[in-house]
Amino acid sequence: AEGSTLTAFAKELEMEVRDLEQVLANLGESLASSEDAVPTDVMELVGLELNVDIAVTPDLNADVKELVRRRGVVAVMGHVDHGKTTLLDSLRKTSVAAGEAGGITQHIGAFVVELPGGNGSLTFLDTPGHAAFSAMRQRGASATDVAVLVVAADDGVMPQTREAAAHIQAAGVPMVVALTKIDRENADPQRVKGEIVSMGIELEEFGGKVQCVPVSAIAGEGLRELEECLVLEAESLELMTSLTGKVDGVVLEAKLDKGQGPVATGLLKAGTLKVGSHVVVGNQYGRVRSLRNGAGDSLTHIGPAEPFELVGLKGVPSAGDSITMVHSESRAKRICEARAEREAALKSASAEPAPSQSEVNPE
Ligand code: GTP
Ligand code: MG
Repeated sequence: AEGSTLTAFAKELEMEVRDLEQVLANLGESLASSEDAVPTDVMELVGLELNVDIAVTPDLNADVKELVRRRGVVAVMGHVDHGKTTLLDSLRKTSVAAGEAGGITQHIGAFVVELPGGNGSLTFLDTPGHAAFSAMRQRGASATDVAVLVVAADDGVMPQTREAAAHIQAAGVPMVVALTKIDRENADPQRVKGEIVSMGIELEEFGGKVQCVPVSAIAGEGLRELEECLVLEAESLELMTSLTGKVDGVVLEAKLDKGQGPVATGLLKAGTLKVGSHVVVGNQYGRVRSLRNGAGDSLTHIGPAEPFELVGLKGVPSAGDSITMVHSESRAKRICEARAEREAALKSASAEPAPSQSEVNPE
């Protein structure tokens, strides 16, 4: 028996097995025996029903044999206009076959770069620097393994540089600094490095661990060095994933397309997303009708660290929503209903002046 049997789950919730069975019955779920494993999506349903936070973490050790190495996901962050998109464009051009620039990369802002010489690959994620996009930077930092903090060598450290650095540090993600626009006449790398160090970022040059790579996207300088740095950082993390375990991904953008209906773009962290499967994305559900990868190719499967575009949801999810695969449409629907109910309850609770501290524990 593992930690996720009905008995163990009941213990974790500090409730009687038969009470938990009743909760399950109310949700239309049942298990043959109390020693049966409770599926993680059912655990989540129970959590929503009881209003307790249940950290549903996929037990990767359960299928150790299935673990495979995966490529690293790199988010590029920094102040507005400091050269993030230009840098990504030039990284993409140096590695991917020319003419491939179309596809969904423009609006998805995520793509895979194959490094020359069989040196592996990296998934890059662009994030906007505009002041209004703090949430996207936060999401970017949390969806990634390594972050590139872009700082223009002329402008130096600016408000969104500080904010991006804070998100990266909060996410506990290793950082590489790219000192961009190094070709500019008024570039002053030494001054800017000083500003970066004063921000509390310990650059290698000053005895710290953070690498700082001067680059010029326009002149094509420093790109290889930056890629090498990033690959080393990603390799040292020994990133592993399961292709067959629980699907875990995050939505980066979502919209309603006139022809296709709701379209969500995102990044898969673990598992394999398949056409035809039932998914729950935030408060929305549906059956995957079509999938495209970061290059815009239509595929039947999407694997970990792969950007995707998904069609088939019944409604438009929100950026930052997580994506999970469930066994049936009815279960997907119930999870969404439970989430919507919980959200409504939270909303009405926060709308009313709270007379007293509300109970956290259902007991
Ligand atoms: P937001 O997405 O709006 O936050 O901006 P960004 O960080 O993506 O900046 P973007 O790549 O759009 O570049 C802003 C401007 O800087 C553009 O006019 C680029 O041509 C210019 N630029 C970017 N990189 C370089 C560089 O290495 N050298 C020079 N000289 N100009 C650059
Ligand atoms: Mg940009």
